[in-house]
Amino acid sequence: MDSLTIPRPDDWHLHLRDGAMLRAVLPETARHFARALVMPNLVPPVVTAAQAADYRDRILAAKPLNSKFRPLMTLYLTEETQVRDLRAAAEIGLVTAVKLYPAGATTNSASGVSDFAKVRRVLENMAQIGLPLCVHGEVTDPTIDIFDREAVFIDRVLDPIRRDVPGLRVVMEHITTRDAADYVRAGGPDLAATITTHHLVINRNHILAGGIRPHYYCLPVAKREEHRLALVAAATGGEACFFLGTDSAPHLDAAKLMPCGCAGCFTATNTLSILAEVFEREAALERLEGFVSRHGPAFYRLPVNTDTVTLIKGEPVAYPALIATDDGPVTVFDPMMPLHWRVAG
Ligand code: NCD
Ligand code: ZN
Repeated sequence: MDSLTIPRPDDWHLHLRDGAMLRAVLPETARHFARALVMPNLVPPVVTAAQAADYRDRILAAKPLNSKFRPLMTLYLTEETQVRDLRAAAEIGLVTAVKLYPAGATTNSASGVSDFAKVRRVLENMAQIGLPLCVHGEVTDPTIDIFDREAVFIDRVLDPIRRDVPGLRVVMEHITTRDAADYVRAGGPDLAATITTHHLVINRNHILAGGIRPHYYCLPVAKREEHRLALVAAATGGEACFFLGTDSAPHLDAAKLMPCGCAGCFTATNTLSILAEVFEREAALERLEGFVSRHGPAFYRLPVNTDTVTLIKGEPVAYPALIATDDGPVTVFDPMMPLHWRVAG
């Protein structure tokens, strides 16, 4: 096979930021993707319906001319989130999901949840109206090793929440372990997971062996090779509970390359080429469509996109190493392998 036409993909977990960064990175996603679920971890975070409407308008204003890209908005769940505000935002279709960050788990998560009892009523209302909860699945307990934080989160936080609020629809975001893949598989129709592009490519050695490589540092941090293999099996296996959320998370190089650098890999630019390469290696190219174009809309109860993209195989494609912003460069994720599939048109 040297050409593959699929419904235009969606990205179910994306950081677009704001201002100069938004203007620089939005075209990278809008070029290939029809829709993206936009994360709300701005400073200050997108907490209310009014803030989500304003942010959506700033994204639409930054969109390239003639682009049909549609941002799908999320609200950042806090212990002060108001049920009435949330329900109104869901009813008019302004928000597609609510994002739960355990307080302190990752970039700009300080306003997240510490006491889960305080958000119970909100979660019950979300279960009633079928509004999905997107979960950053890591405990923040400093005594838990960073490589174990996802697996411990499932037992300590996620499973209790799901038992406590039956019918709550949950997406476990950017899973990085076999434990999470197995938990999601067994979780029934109300549970799904996003998988990033970079977690299909790197394991923890890529960050730490032979020199420290800040551009491969993200959260949840990449785990052992056996976990990467479990993620590849999940993504390429055709199961509807797994779909693409790139977690493309741009930071200026100046913020990545410092003694305490930021977490995040920027993959918007070359994601589809990388995924085609990964799926082809697994002899699973025919399942790429499910992972990038069909399983996500099915979970979010949205139509599959009607227009298409075509991927064409040929000589290795050259992608830029950097994207320029008015504030400085952002490094594009280096997959450390030749990419033979390009997105036509
Ligand atoms: C994300 C960011 O930079 O906003 N960083 C990351 O490493 N993935 C936050 C997140 O999704 O955890
Ligand atoms: Zn993210």
